[in-house]
This record gives sequence, structure tokens and C-alpha cells, in this order.
Amino acid sequence: MRFKLFSILTLLPLTMSAATIQKSDFGKTADGAAVALYTIKNGKGMEAKIITYGGAIVSLKTPDRTGAMGDIVLGYDTLAEYAAGKSYFGALIGRYGNRIAHGKFTLDGKAYSVPVNNGENALHGGIRGFDKRVWTARELPDGALELTYKSKDGEEGYPGNLAATVTYTLTDANTLRIHYIATTDKPTVLNLTNHSYFNLKGAGDGDILGHLVTLNADEYLPVDAGLIPTGELRLVDGTPFDFRHGRTPGERISQPDQQLKLGNGYDHNWILNRPEMGPGMLSLAARVEETGVSGRIMEVYTDQPGIQFYTGNFLDGTDKGKGGKVYNQHAGFCVETQHYPDSPNKPSFPSTILRPGQKYDTTTEFRFSAK
Ligand code: GLA
Repeated sequence: MRFKLFSILTLLPLTMSAATIQKSDFGKTADGAAVALYTIKNGKGMEAKIITYGGAIVSLKTPDRTGAMGDIVLGYDTLAEYAAGKSYFGALIGRYGNRIAHGKFTLDGKAYSVPVNNGENALHGGIRGFDKRVWTARELPDGALELTYKSKDGEEGYPGNLAATVTYTLTDANTLRIHYIATTDKPTVLNLTNHSYFNLKGAGDGDILGHLVTLNADEYLPVDAGLIPTGELRLVDGTPFDFRHGRTPGERISQPDQQLKLGNGYDHNWILNRPEMGPGMLSLAARVEETGVSGRIMEVYTDQPGIQFYTGNFLDGTDKGKGGKVYNQHAGFCVETQHYPDSPNKPSFPSTILRPGQKYDTTTEFRFSAK
């Protein structure tokens, strides 16, 4: 077992990037801020397009089994649609990704209230989270894109001036790496992630229910009706939440399981099985394979303790995506690497507190191949 774990571990600096990056305009926000679109290409023809609005990945082209490139992320054609959108397509999420119960938490004895925007709860950083902000971009020599956002003390109710830097790197191994760094001048809570919706057949090409999904997790977090974890860590064994050996979401999504009913499908945090290794070590969190038309495979490596596997349950066809394609329910899936939802109110969960002098530093990689 130990040996097997070592084989899925990698050191970060092993895969170098030799990508090119180009900038173009993506329009202006309603209040006049210019938004740029960066196109990153690696030496293998893989291409990522990222906008400075929300740091969103708006297009990601990866090869299928014949080598043909296809765009596998859901998104819109225009900035206005990103600004109005409620699905967080491709965006960076902060300050607190996922939910905080009733928008309330206590930190060092002080009570904080953050806006409630999802039933009774706070979701994905508030009314205007990091997904609805314009980030400052810098092109790095290796063709990577560095995005910086300075979130002011009190913004969306969170304490402390927070400086966040996210770097997107495309390597010649067809890996998209996202590196998140943040510091604060007051204690705060932080949970950054990326909210890309993937469809390995191609964005807008039907649903993802037949993708073969493996999640490296023995436990998941059951939720209440507002999708807040109850605090219980439940074994996946014998439940429709067992994805340890590769199953399609479609197979069990309609089973009469109370947790599937509450989530309206899969919309839960799995607790990743992680070897006890040092910082900078990533381990395999998820593997998704589209065995039908494309043969595309995506592997997710991270140093985060959890992953939200969401099967696009709230997509309902009202979102018209790129090229006018309609995104119906389950048109995409998300694998949001993260800390557990509602951690600020759950002392038994790994801490999401960031203090002055500390550095938040985390990495997730999406590795693409086809067979
Ligand atoms: C996350 C949540 C879902 C949903 C989406 C956005 O994945 O867990 O419940 O809110 O974001 O629609």
C-alpha cells in the first residue's frame, strides 16, 4: 500500500513549462475596468484561455485520443455574461470557497457576519466574491500567468487586508497547474479554489453522467438541507459515494439515497486519502476518464484535504454557453480542491484560519491525456 502511494506522488518542480502567452482585450466591466484575455499555449498544442475577470478559465483545449483538440470547459462568449452569471464558470473562488453556515463565524472570540447568498448560507465568498473582481495580471518568463487580487479589510465581511496571487502554468506534459498564495494583515479565514466545469467530450456536448470517475477518498461529508456538512465523517463503503474504483455518476445518482436527494445529485466534499508527506507534495485526488467518443483523461493532483465533486445539478438550460450551446443539468462536473465547507464553524475540521506572518500556499494540477 505504502509503495502504491509513493507511485502517485510527484515533486512540484519536475514538470517545466515552455509555453507562450498572448494578451488580447475582453471588453470592459459595467464600471469601466478593462478586462484582458490571456492565451497560453504549450509545445504540444494544448491551450488555456484565462480572463482577468474572476481569473476565469474561459477555454481549455486538450487532445482527444486521435490528437484532435477540443474545448472541455463550460463558459460564456462575453464578459457581460460572466458578470451576470451565477454558475461560477471557470472562476477563482474566494475568500471562502463553498459554504459558511448562516454567514456567521467566530474568530479569536470575535463574531463575523458575511453576506448570505445561498438560502440561509454564505457561498463562494459572497455577493461579489473573487470571481466578480478584476485581477491584475503579469506574464511570467515561462509563459505562465500570474494574477493578483488585493481584498480590502472588511470586503464581503471578511477581516484583514488579504493579498492573493494565483499563477496558472501550462506545462509540456499537458498539465495545467494552479498555484495559490496569500497573506493577510489580520487573522482571517480563507479557502481558495477554481470552479471550472469540465465535460471531457467537449463543452456543450451532452452530459457527464457517463464519465468514469475515481475519487481517492474513503470518507465524505454528509450535509443538511442547506448543503452544510453535519460534522459527521461518513465512510463511502457501501454507499453511492464510493468512487474509489471508478464508477460513472449516472449509475447511482438517482438512487433513493438521502444524501443524493439533499444534494440534488452529487454536491459533496470528499475527504481525500493523503499520505503523510511534506509540503509541496501533491497526491492524486481524482481521475476522470471519458471512455466513449474522446478517450480524454483528466487527473487532479492536490495538496488540499478535500474535494467538492459537483455534477452540475443546478444547471437547467437557462445558461447559454459558448457558441450558443445550452447547458442542461449535468452538462459539466466540478472537482473543486479545497478545505472542507463550513470549517470556520467546525473546530474538528482542518483549520482555514490564516494569520499575519503566515503564508497560504497551495497547488492543484489538472493533468490531461487520452487513450
Ligand atoms: C458549488 C456548490 C454547488 C453550487 C455551485 C454553483 O459547487 O457546492 O452547490 O452552488 O457551486 O452553482
